[in-house]
Amino acid sequence: MKKMQGFEKYYQKDWDERLAILKTATELTADELEILKTAELKPEIRETLIENQITGYTLPEGLALNYVVNDKEYLVPMVTEEPSVIAASSYGAKIVKQAGGFQTIQQPRLMLGQIIFEDVRDAVRLKTTLKAYETEIITLANQAHPSIVKRGGGARWIRIRTLSQDMLSLDLAVDVQEAMGANMLNTMLEAVAQFLKTELKINVLMSILSNYATECLVTAQCEIPVELLQTDAVPGELVAQKIVQANRVAQLDPYRATTHNKGIMNGIDAAVIASGNDWRAIESGAHAYASRHGQYRGLTKWDLKDNKLSGSLTLPMPLGFVGGAISVLPLAKINQKLLQIENANELAQVVVSVGLAQNLAALKALVTDGIQKGHMQLQLKTLAHRAGATAQETPYVVAQLSANQKRDFQSAQDILTKLRKGDL
Ligand code: MEV
Repeated sequence: MKKMQGFEKYYQKDWDERLAILKTATELTADELEILKTAELKPEIRETLIENQITGYTLPEGLALNYVVNDKEYLVPMVTEEPSVIAASSYGAKIVKQAGGFQTIQQPRLMLGQIIFEDVRDAVRLKTTLKAYETEIITLANQAHPSIVKRGGGARWIRIRTLSQDMLSLDLAVDVQEAMGANMLNTMLEAVAQFLKTELKINVLMSILSNYATECLVTAQCEIPVELLQTDAVPGELVAQKIVQANRVAQLDPYRATTHNKGIMNGIDAAVIASGNDWRAIESGAHAYASRHGQYRGLTKWDLKDNKLSGSLTLPMPLGFVGGAISVLPLAKINQKLLQIENANELAQVVVSVGLAQNLAALKALVTDGIQKGHMQLQLKTLAHRAGATAQETPYVVAQLSANQKRDFQSAQDILTKLRKGDL
């Protein structure tokens, strides 16, 4: 396995050093490095993506380290404003790396779209009629987007579901290849809907892709010897037992499940945003999947057997590798390069692994030290910044605050005042 060199204690290096290490470890060009340094959007890009654009809203991007997925090591770019997400992610991934890394299972990757029929009088008859038109429907869908057929993809099958006595959904499954496929699906669906309206005189209410991408599931798994989980105060086996219990709570209680899944999405969203994909689509799909048994539940599974903690996470992961914002945003392309991924499947497998690592780190912290301890350094930095400390002053203010009983805004201000008077 190729090793990532130079990333030991990466968080302790200053910004210039971090970029220099990154340049050596990856194949970034000087221009790409410049984009990382300035990260501004060119006017033509600004005008391409959204309406009424006034500025670029910058969120911090960092690298999660230690990710080994299917025996390949990755640097995972993550975009997040939340302190500790990247540290927790790298920590969870490090435990799993010591245990041999993540393994993934990728199911066939199809996107679904819906045509909804209303005022249906005879649902059984309409279902039979639509099924009889399957070949025409698939041909029409493909004719509406011939380029995907040339690339080896295209519409694959339909299914018809009864939603109520008077409503049906025709679901069209499409192999979208490397795209996320929203536009492709919508174009196909509208063409098919038009045909059905005119040809069969059926009342079509609407047609749109579905973000509940159940035909695009990805699973990440890991198996961790309990010794790797021990802390100074708690033996590994006990930590593992408590992680399993914490996971049970998320299966039993929607209040806990929501927070549990929020932690998973801390990592997933951050990696998905960095990839230039539509993270709202991934979020909505994940939460729908969490409710698939009729109750909202935690998305991960953790079991303890033979002194090994095994974890797994399955999620709909309809990510694209080309098209949409990915083709427009320079950072999305640079991030693909940093990740060194080849295609949409590989991206999806890394992203689901991130969700599992994030959950492992959160549960381990929650059942041992609590999460505040890990958050403290970054929180103190934020306090120092709010109190007005410059980049040079911040380490002193943070060090003093760490040593203080009181670690609030007023204390940060007092320390800064003393520092500026030369009293520290
Ligand atoms: C904080 O952003 C995420 C956690 O609350 C997740 C969890 O509770 O599992 C730590």
